[in-house]
Amino acid sequence: MSLVAGVELGPYEVLAPLGAGGMGEVYRARDTRLGREVAIKVLPAEVLADPPRRARFVQEARAASSLNHPNIVTIYGIESANGADFIVMEYVPGQTLDGLIPRHGMRVGEALRLAIPIADALAAAHAAGVVHRDVKPANVMVTRQGLVKVLDFGLAKLRQAEAAAGQEDTTVEAEAKLTRAGTVAGTPAYMSPEQASGGVVDARSDVFSFGVVLYEMVTGRRPFVGGSSAELLAALLKEEPKPPSGLVADLPKELERIILRCLRKDPERRFQHMKDVKVELEGSRRSPIPSPRPRRAWSPGDRDAGGSRGPQPARSFSPFWRPGFSDAGDSPRRHRRSSRSPRPARHTAARSRPTAPSSRSPRPAIEATTGTSG
Ligand SMILES: Nc1ncnc2c1ncn2[C@@H]1O[C@H](COP(=O)(O)OP(=O)(O)OP(=O)(O)O)[C@@H](O)[C@H]1O
Ligand SMILES: [Mg+2]
Repeated sequence: MSLVAGVELGPYEVLAPLGAGGMGEVYRARDTRLGREVAIKVLPAEVLADPPRRARFVQEARAASSLNHPNIVTIYGIESANGADFIVMEYVPGQTLDGLIPRHGMRVGEALRLAIPIADALAAAHAAGVVHRDVKPANVMVTRQGLVKVLDFGLAKLRQAEAAAGQEDTTVEAEAKLTRAGTVAGTPAYMSPEQASGGVVDARSDVFSFGVVLYEMVTGRRPFVGGSSAELLAALLKEEPKPPSGLVADLPKELERIILRCLRKDPERRFQHMKDVKVELEGSRRSPIPSPRPRRAWSPGDRDAGGSRGPQPARSFSPFWRPGFSDAGDSPRRHRRSSRSPRPARHTAARSRPTAPSSRSPRPAIEATTGTSG
């Protein structure tokens, strides 16, 4: 991170680095005029050097800043100072969703409690004509109170400027694009097939990416994986995802159906509107979660591509659980997993929950009633 505490960017005083991604570095800062904390995302100099690109970005950022929703991070403005361009936004103390997904996935109730507001945020953005284009766990913050805030609406357009709408790519071109996207934007594992191949991207692309996120939330694994960008592209374009119920025992059928419908390759065959996804998720929350069955015997035939685990026991919703934090809001995120499949072992079954829970700790086995709202 190139800015240190105390540096002033116009009226903003940098307090601490928060992290860095493909589109710049993020800092916690203080707006000295209003005396409030903000987050500033300093964009790489080359990103806005090209005037048409800058104009497109400003237009997109303007649309994103018009979004007013409790689950969308508020954009305060796009400013320039000391030769740097930066986005000033609401500071969200908390942790990104990718740091909160346990190795074997979340309990169904927990996943729904977080997924429904994400779906609501996306639905509201779509209604305002804004497509996110980069829905992934790293772009979802969860506050210490468990409130969800979706970040970076429309920012991906900057990175994907060259993936012009309507172009039909050959697989080789698409692969090259995916590789570039992977280099610049982190993992492309959440892209829709049409986005990864440079096709037309609309709200239904967000529906697909949301499906990838939800799949990962409940299973701890991504539906499409590959050792290389070519393999990932092939999986995205051709392979059907392994049904999540093959990874998690007693996953409600209804939830599986919703996830798989989000993940259909053909946008015409997916849910057409995020709002419908949200309504379906709310409905699934009310349907009973089956009581845990004894875990069936583990056999080598159960092994998935990662080969690391069999079906997991049912997870039920604990109304008492809230995401654990390690005060990550103040700590720079230095590491980024390139792939979640398989995840490295982070805990053993024998470990009990520590008094001050870390985000990756196993949850206490509280079997609670179903359908409770979080
Ligand atoms: N408004 C915010 N409030 C608090 N922390 C934030 C905020 N925005 C970003 N962060 C933190 O900064 C980190 C880096 O964000 P950034 O968007 O640059 O990375 P990314 O999402 O991993 O990559 P990408 O460039 O693909 O979006 C996030 O992981 C998060 O921890
Ligand atoms: Mg981001």
